[in-house]
Amino acid sequence: MAKIAPSILAADFANLGADVTDICGRGTDYIHVDVMDGAFVPNISFGSAVMKSLLGYATVPFDVHLMIEAPDRYIEDFVTDNTEFITVHYEACSDLAATLKHIHDLGVKAGVSIKPGTAPEVLDDFLDDIDLILVMSVEPGFGGQKFMDNSLPKISYYAEKKKEKGYSYIVEVDGGVSSKNAHIVREAGIDLIVAGSAVFKAADRTAEIAAIKGVE
Ligand code: DX5
Ligand code: ZN
Repeated sequence: MAKIAPSILAADFANLGADVTDICGRGTDYIHVDVMDGAFVPNISFGSAVMKSLLGYATVPFDVHLMIEAPDRYIEDFVTDNTEFITVHYEACSDLAATLKHIHDLGVKAGVSIKPGTAPEVLDDFLDDIDLILVMSVEPGFGGQKFMDNSLPKISYYAEKKKEKGYSYIVEVDGGVSSKNAHIVREAGIDLIVAGSAVFKAADRTAEIAAIKGVE
């Protein structure tokens, strides 16, 4: 069984508090917060003020995904009592070791994401210092895209390395996952699954969340 982090990018922004309250308590493990700057990705979503406005509504921790250039400028803004992970993109960092230290110094767990075109080996030298690896299974920027199969060998790569060497990071996947295909990422060794459209547009959100996680 995997854990799930529904992405609020697919929620109803006019009713965000109610939507977040609704999915917490249906088996949701984390709230996935997709932050886009219109530069690292060709879309703008929302910033830290919107996430902080959800503090009274979320009963599970935030899993923050920063799709922004030079993320060190904004990391501190996303630190709250409810922030468990802050994930930056490998491709957006000029000194990844320094950025990981920056996140850790703020008392938060540090994640690193790689885009579909990035090889998994680029993180080999950093694995001791990473708490979460986010494998993108779509080009970051938009919800509702088709799952890309080239994420599967990357998930297995990190899952196997973790088993072999005893690393403590968790492996997360993001993009195009629903109850229809979640079994393939679970079989590849995933720990945490992001799902936006599949959860928020489901007729029965509780059932969709359980099916994505693989609850027996
Ligand atoms: C894409 C985002 C994803 C996306 C997932 O840039 O990082 O979290 O919202 O949405 P779905 O599940 O709809 O593909
Ligand atoms: Zn995301």
